[in-house]
Amino acid sequence: MTAIVDLSNDSYNQNDEILFARISNNLARKGYSVNVNALPFDLADRLYQHVSSLSDESFEEAAIGRKNEHIKNVFVRSQKLSWILGDSVTGKLWLSWADALQTYLNQHLFLGLFSFESHYARFSTGDFYARHYDAFKGETSRILSIVVYLNQNWLPADGGELVLYKTDDDKIGLQVTPSFATVVVFLSTELPHEVLRTQRDRYSIAGWFSPNTTTASRVDPPR
Ligand code: OGA
Ligand code: MN
Repeated sequence: MTAIVDLSNDSYNQNDEILFARISNNLARKGYSVNVNALPFDLADRLYQHVSSLSDESFEEAAIGRKNEHIKNVFVRSQKLSWILGDSVTGKLWLSWADALQTYLNQHLFLGLFSFESHYARFSTGDFYARHYDAFKGETSRILSIVVYLNQNWLPADGGELVLYKTDDDKIGLQVTPSFATVVVFLSTELPHEVLRTQRDRYSIAGWFSPNTTTASRVDPPR
């Protein structure tokens, strides 16, 4: 007799499994993965509805990072962000999707991912984020970065591309259009990246997976 299993509450389905496998293979082969039209559209839609309905007050200014502070002050980032804490249905759906990805990657790549933090980001016209790493080697904090884009009908003239550099020395990089439901995943300490100046309001989610670490608190790296 075949057991009847209710899968309706499963946090991911077969399509997610195909995407997760692709991300896993790409990470193993080259350390990053770019997936256009990849986040389930119903989830991407909900996330867009949610982020675009947030009031200005729900966003905080990103800490103003300064590069080479001792030499000269260079303004490196200007987006506003709102942490996703799982206190809304939409936030919960996103976190459970990220958790399913984390489980899949732990099973297939043995990354030992343990915790996940993420925020909505709004880049207003003129905003950018200068080249940076999400974490530095030797730190046990962020291992894996994920960025998801929520922008319909993005045109080349809108700018705001993510540029992923494959190594420290890479000056050209790979440009990613911040289009609706594109999912980018990369090793946090391996790929420097930047966001080119946007000519239009630009919505994304950025998240980071970290291992279980008992190290005492330390200063957060630039995000
Ligand atoms: C970050 C980041 C990229 C993007 O928040 O650290 O690199 O495209 N974001 O929003
Ligand atoms: Mn980053």
